Amino acid sequence: MTTNTILPDVLQNKRKLNKIAVFTSGGDAPGMNAAIRAVTRAAISKKLKVTGIRHGYQGMIDGDFIPLTASDVSGIIQSGGTILKTGRCEAFKTPEGRQQAYQHLKRAEIDAVVVIGGDGSFSGAMEMSQEFDVSFVGIPATIDNDIYGTDYTIGYETALNTVVDAVDKIRDTARSHGRIFFVEVMGHEAGLLALDSGIASGAEVILIPESTEQHEELEWFLNKGYKQKESSGIIIVAEGDETGGAMKIAEKVKVEHPDLDVRVTILGHIQRGGSPSAKDRINATRMGVAAVEALFDDQKSIMIGLVNEKIVQVPFNKAVKLNHSIDLSLLEIQRLMNF
Ligand code: F6P
Repeated sequence: MTTNTILPDVLQNKRKLNKIAVFTSGGDAPGMNAAIRAVTRAAISKKLKVTGIRHGYQGMIDGDFIPLTASDVSGIIQSGGTILKTGRCEAFKTPEGRQQAYQHLKRAEIDAVVVIGGDGSFSGAMEMSQEFDVSFVGIPATIDNDIYGTDYTIGYETALNTVVDAVDKIRDTARSHGRIFFVEVMGHEAGLLALDSGIASGAEVILIPESTEQHEELEWFLNKGYKQKESSGIIIVAEGDETGGAMKIAEKVKVEHPDLDVRVTILGHIQRGGSPSAKDRINATRMGVAAVEALFDDQKSIMIGLVNEKIVQVPFNKAVKLNHSIDLSLLEIQRLMNF
């Protein structure tokens, strides 16, 4: 049995960290609060001070900083959204904006920063760390699950459950009225949320940006499959699909198939809210602790990821540049379920 020699924290604190900051950036995602909580408590356990930056990069530029204590992050693990607020920030894309942000970090004596967000947020962190002496470690949090190097992004599983619950409800009324529903889900330019929710909800057709073959499936279903089933159907459409989304394709179908009773539901921002699932809370907590440990170990410009349930470190320049792969074999499985 190996004994792990756990060095006293002070010895592991290679960069002599005293104070770290944490903030959320980009679209919010359920589980962000669990990550904030984990970063804060892990840092305090290592005798570090913690600053919360509010409103994403804009808050860094404005110096909108608050101290975070263990009690400040009490009772938030179950809450959707982010207590630190979030947003996208054009000003941070300018050198002047990053300079102003850096001044505030230095004035606040912040040694390192944990950024909780998507690949756009990591790009900003990478750019700033190339210009200034600031260490960033990223935690992937977006309902899109479109980041290279990690199986999970925080919020994805909760959003997936939200979509499936909504589609199950739409299925009831589709069946009662013999209607075909085009249901649009988020995902930005990625189709994973559409693909997984389509499989889980038993959708008849799934339209995603990563595959154009599905449009033949749709034609087959509208001309034949629809009539063979109990004359109703659910078509999941990823918002980034080449058709331009559920509204556009439904209008086209109404013209080409006037005999069909067609409706559209665009799920929208309901997918971004809700209490995070247990899995998202666990992943967020593990990633939060791992992010603090990485900073303690003098790591920087890396994202904490989960691959086969194991914590990994992915350089920002890979996480932001490479694409998250999608398992298109799931489309074959979906076809099998609906032949
Ligand atoms: O990136 C998360 C996401 O929800 C995308 O799926 C979606 O396209 C986008 O954010 C919506 O952005 P906003 O909240 O600014 O409307």
